[in-house]
Amino acid sequence: MLCQRAGLHQNGESMADSKKDICRIELGESSYELPVVVGSEGERGIDISSLRSTTGHIALDRGYMNTGSCVSSISYIDGEQGILRYRGIAIEDLAEKSTFVETAYLVIYGELPTASQLKEFSAMFTKYEMLHEGLKHHFEGFPPNAHPMAILSSMINAMGCYEADIADSDQHFDEVLVRIMSKVRTIAAFSYKKSIGEPFIYPYPEFSYCANLLHMMFSVPYKEFFPSKEAISALNKFFILHADHEQNCSTSTVRMVASSKANLFASIAAGVCSLWGPLHGGANMAVIEMLDQLYKDKTKTKDFVAQIKDSTNKTKLMGFGHRVYKNHDPRAKIIKKSCDELLSKLKINDPTLEIAKELEEIALQDEYFISRKLYPNVDFYSGIILRALGIPANMFTVMFAIGRIPGWIAQWREENADPKGKICRPRQIYNGQTSRPYKKLADR
Ligand code: CMC
Repeated sequence: MLCQRAGLHQNGESMADSKKDICRIELGESSYELPVVVGSEGERGIDISSLRSTTGHIALDRGYMNTGSCVSSISYIDGEQGILRYRGIAIEDLAEKSTFVETAYLVIYGELPTASQLKEFSAMFTKYEMLHEGLKHHFEGFPPNAHPMAILSSMINAMGCYEADIADSDQHFDEVLVRIMSKVRTIAAFSYKKSIGEPFIYPYPEFSYCANLLHMMFSVPYKEFFPSKEAISALNKFFILHADHEQNCSTSTVRMVASSKANLFASIAAGVCSLWGPLHGGANMAVIEMLDQLYKDKTKTKDFVAQIKDSTNKTKLMGFGHRVYKNHDPRAKIIKKSCDELLSKLKINDPTLEIAKELEEIALQDEYFISRKLYPNVDFYSGIILRALGIPANMFTVMFAIGRIPGWIAQWREENADPKGKICRPRQIYNGQTSRPYKKLADR
């Protein structure tokens, strides 16, 4: 396969228009030309949509390592340079200066809100923060030890049933998205209360997004919990860092479900399930379990790293490695700093922070990790922050999900609005039995 480089195009996706902007492939005696697509940051892709009809071949790419599934203008990652931007704005700037609600607006609508837009947007969160009382009874159906991710996904779908009149309407998109973002916080807090057998606590209209979540999780009927400004700021930062991350596993799931024209509730519920696994959002819980185990067993970090490098062993350094980042994950740098600041402000001495730092130091100097370009990702330190906020490990991935909701909403809308959009339906290479006759039961 031969790809020739040409000048970059400035405005979003553009199809190559000169002879140079083509990819030529040779199959046997025949030669075919495929167009090259160029993004606004100069990244380049070969458009293979006509590959099967012209050559009779499909592209095989397990895990979509090299497959672009859409053209998107929401977030941009340069994995080699460790860059992440939402709608063109650096993650470092947003984490430092923005709030989660403002960043959510940016991610969903493409621009930072004006003061009046932000006021109106925030007021809608308050308006829709309560759950329908009927919906509340659904919590009764879950056993006390049900995983909060299972509850979250089920309840988002159940919520869609209570909003059926508006769920499928484009006209109500603004209202539906705020309902989801706001109520998801109430569902998360209720699922936590359910898991510890405490009564549900209702939201306070005057509290901000993050303060309200902490209040609903930690207040009890006889004692109000007022979160500190440090805790609110750390949670805002945590959510901002998770707000979008281009075509990761859960976002691709949301877009795939959306491509069948399923509504936002159904698509986001599917995204929650996809996020759950330990290779994706579930890694934050897996990291803290790993660090706790090392602390409990008094395992030397050097010995643990040796265990990871042993090829007969399947142990991974959870919170390390990324499909796209091959230099550093910018979110990890921000979260590590935020972790240090929060623990020092709250005067918390968490021994797992020292273990994590030691592991990072050893790994970053070790040939195994260097040669594979494995660096700490966003999940490596995030669990320590969440624990400092009093959040239990089985809620960590729920917190990731709450943060990712704006991204899923924006991606769902982009998928739906794409005039060239198609139902996602990958092909396969079949390697099963070839044609054979059915044998009657008596003959088997
Ligand atoms: N510890 C030890 N070895 C690793 C790790 C790790 N965390 N991650 C990758 N490797 C090795 C892997 O064994 C392979 O080695 P070899 O070439 O000898 O077979 C090589 O590095 C390439 O790894 P890969 O699994 O082919 O890479 P991938 O792009 O398919 O997987 C990943 C990316 C994130 C799933 C993987 O790095 C991993 O499992 N990390 C641990 C789980 C984790 O922290 N997940 C959170 C990701 S960030 C949050 C999010 O957005 O989801």
